[in-house]
Amino acid sequence: MSGTRSIWFDTASLPKHRAIAKSTHVDVCVVGAGIAGLSVAYSCAREGKRVTVLERDQIAAGESGRTTAHLVNALDDHYFVLEKSRGLEMSRLAAQAHSAAIDVIEQTIRDEQIQCDFARVDGYLFLGADDTQQLLSDELAAAHRAGLIGVSRKQSAPGFASGPVLRFPGQGRLHPLKYLAGLASGIERLGGRVYGGSRVESIEGGTPAKVKTTSGMVVSAHDVVVCTNGAISDMTTTHVKQAPYRTFVVAFEMKRGAFPDALFWDTPDPYHYVRIQPLDRARDAILVGGADHKTAHENDATDRFDALEFWARGYWPNLGNRISQWSGQVLEPFDYLAFIGANPDGAEHVWLATGDSGMGMTHGTIAGILLPVLMEGAPHPWTPLFDPKRLTTHPAELKALARESIDVALHYAERVLPGDTSDAADIPRGEGRVIRRGMHKIAAYRDARGRLHEHSAVCTHLKCVVRWNSTEQSWDCPCHGSRFDPQGKVIAGPATTDLPQTAEG
Ligand SMILES: Cc1cc2nc3c(=O)[nH]c(=O)nc-3n(C[C@H](O)[C@H](O)[C@H](O)COP(=O)(O)OP(=O)(O)OC[C@H]3O[C@@H](n4cnc5c(N)ncnc54)[C@H](O)[C@@H]3O)c2cc1C
Ligand code: FES
Repeated sequence: MSGTRSIWFDTASLPKHRAIAKSTHVDVCVVGAGIAGLSVAYSCAREGKRVTVLERDQIAAGESGRTTAHLVNALDDHYFVLEKSRGLEMSRLAAQAHSAAIDVIEQTIRDEQIQCDFARVDGYLFLGADDTQQLLSDELAAAHRAGLIGVSRKQSAPGFASGPVLRFPGQGRLHPLKYLAGLASGIERLGGRVYGGSRVESIEGGTPAKVKTTSGMVVSAHDVVVCTNGAISDMTTTHVKQAPYRTFVVAFEMKRGAFPDALFWDTPDPYHYVRIQPLDRARDAILVGGADHKTAHENDATDRFDALEFWARGYWPNLGNRISQWSGQVLEPFDYLAFIGANPDGAEHVWLATGDSGMGMTHGTIAGILLPVLMEGAPHPWTPLFDPKRLTTHPAELKALARESIDVALHYAERVLPGDTSDAADIPRGEGRVIRRGMHKIAAYRDARGRLHEHSAVCTHLKCVVRWNSTEQSWDCPCHGSRFDPQGKVIAGPATTDLPQTAEG
């Protein structure tokens, strides 16, 4: 499958992990080798537990290979918003958790001697054209109340002409692939196993809990931790409380040191985010992200990449050439914080980390701090903050949840509406279209050689109709973010089974 590829894969090489070849019993089995899975596995291995990681593809194959890896204790959804919805105590705990995550990443890099371009840098929040300075004042006061007393208001940021801004000191940035490769080798050094090419098809709670791969291998474990981004152990509870968004990144080349080594993000929704990544002695890459849309609601990535460039050049006119562009998916929970804890269906000894909220580098690391404590049955102050079962009574969040439910309901209605085209002959090479045939919706893809591949267009999770993503060459589900390749093979959960081939396909 083609699609975009992030700059990280052009600037690091990853170890290949072989597939699991025999069934085994361990203390902890982790499913998924992104930042969340490897962070949990590393913590458990450090505690002396026998750990196995099962990854469908290879490490960083999911969103952790597409991130921009700003490491922040600043909340992109703002502390004053969180405080209003969940109260001051939760806001304080969130500040504490994200700060601790950056500290843990820094400590791990030191302990494992991971060369991953990590740096502590300042972060700057600046106003979008339609926002007023009151927003900065509200956020400054709320960040202070949350305990981030180092946050300050400045007239401007380095290399940035228009102020005022809020400065968040002590943030971080790193090369995600290099960091994940370091975590994986740390896990192996501590006796753990990391398997690639090992797709999990079922998870069963119990004593022991059991994980089965599509190749028929069974890993039984005292605890199973599901870190597949869109959780494959919980089919509804977390999925109805979060929405999938596609987000876009463009990278520009600049002379080394010409752009400030800091993080920038602004206040509109969707917001823009900017950082540098050192490339070599002479060059930095400037990464500019944003232009999000709800997954599968648009199919116009080229315009979005261009819009990001246009926006960035408005602030930094001397950016060099565009050298890379890619997109990825984030999961936005109703109250801005990840779901990390016991699997909500009550399956014994099954845990999950999902709902990254665009802050998955710190949320994934938080999973690595919190879940090993919960596995021991010990209390932790962050438990209620990230509890996957949590509900809301806050009117704004109830409204947002209702809006999402209506959107999902509309996608179910699509099953009886006409398709994108009525004639497969209209589908150009390298493109996909949904076709209605009688009562069925067909996901039809024409490959580069002109051959048509037809699968059911009904998502195998909860049966919404998938849509074609031309840029990533995938069938994406607008409801909860499952994704399938042009041949119908699942590439992102919550779906665990492929789109069935139709008789014609
Ligand atoms: C463009 C972009 C920019 C972002 N910028 C930031 C940022 O600046 N800061 C920040 O904190 N966050 C950011 N995020 C979010 C963050 O990168 C993600 O939330 C985070 O990487 C998710 O990590 P994860 O481990 O939960 O999931 P993933 O990295 O997606 O890992 C899940 C893994 O599970 C595997 N898997 C799935 N199903 C199965 C199965 N059935 N069996 C076995 N394995 C399976 C997948 O192959 C994958 O490797 C960004 C995201 C994107 C897309
Ligand atoms: S991801 Fe839930 S219905 Fe498709």
